[in-house]
Amino acid sequence: MDSPAPPPGQTLAGYLASQDQADASLHALILALAATCAEISALVARGALGDVLGSAGAENVQGEVQKKLDVISNDMLVACAESSGQVAAVGSEELEDIIVFDKAADRGRHLLLFDPLDGSSNIDVNVSIGTIFSVLPAPTGRAATAQDFLQGGRAQQAAGYALYGPQTVLVLTLGQGVAGFTLDPRDGTWTLTHPGLRIPRDTREFAINMSNQRHWAAPVRRYIDEALAGRTGARGKDFNMRWVAAMVADVHRILNRGGVFLYPWDQREPDRAGKLRLMYEANPLGWLVEQAGGAASDGRQPLLDIAPTSLHQRVSVVLGSAEEVERVVAHHAEAA
Ligand code: F6P
Repeated sequence: MDSPAPPPGQTLAGYLASQDQADASLHALILALAATCAEISALVARGALGDVLGSAGAENVQGEVQKKLDVISNDMLVACAESSGQVAAVGSEELEDIIVFDKAADRGRHLLLFDPLDGSSNIDVNVSIGTIFSVLPAPTGRAATAQDFLQGGRAQQAAGYALYGPQTVLVLTLGQGVAGFTLDPRDGTWTLTHPGLRIPRDTREFAINMSNQRHWAAPVRRYIDEALAGRTGARGKDFNMRWVAAMVADVHRILNRGGVFLYPWDQREPDRAGKLRLMYEANPLGWLVEQAGGAASDGRQPLLDIAPTSLHQRVSVVLGSAEEVERVVAHHAEAA
């Protein structure tokens, strides 16, 4: 039986061409990244048949065990950045140091940061995972350095993710709203299927790893206690909970139907700001959320206003429906 024809829609290239921001080199980079994400998606889909599951037998800079797919997708994205000719240097969750593509005559205009495979613990159990990326301006007239990457989230030129779930989708912002594209695995094309994503201001759904409850700071405990109290508590409504253990998938749900995601600081490691990484997780996803009308904070200030101090910096994260994020921020302000 013939499979049904895909719905008519704008291609990713057509969408980029229609944007006010006519940065040809940025558009070329995004098309290259999208093509590589389509290749990663095909590998993810083959799973055990492609011998890509399981551990790579090493640890990354975060001290986390690397999965084979972490390493493979990292290498694919580095190669993509280099061959695109648009990138001066890359930083990755899987690489301790940046890689500078030293072609003095033809240096790329962008710095690229990525988490090649977010939600690694889901890989071997066939649950959603994704690739997150952030594009920053590169210095002109000289080679890029690690210091050049330490730009706040508002300096991002583009940010997005590919989510490898029941469908593979690419969600993107260039600073003019958020658009989602679905991959047709039959021919590797991306079609605009989710134009103008918007996050409702209020929600009845939160996402947090509840097993850490006893370790949280008082303002976060208060916020979740109020939600759990439901209709008869301070909030006057019942809440639902979801936790995919892949931030990219939780954020995708929030972009589509609202909700709030928290990965807060906790007292087990008081000197560590949080679990998630600012430069290639929180900033790109935070910008997408803001561009969709939501809010993104570390509990005290907008994520995008944080001045980064290191490439692999960690941060406490609260993002999603604005009313909920504002409430968490207010609880922190009161406690202070
Ligand atoms: O390392 C990042 C990450 O995998 C996120 O994508 C996810 O939200 C979180 O860690 C899951 O953490 P935990 O294992 O504590 O649920």
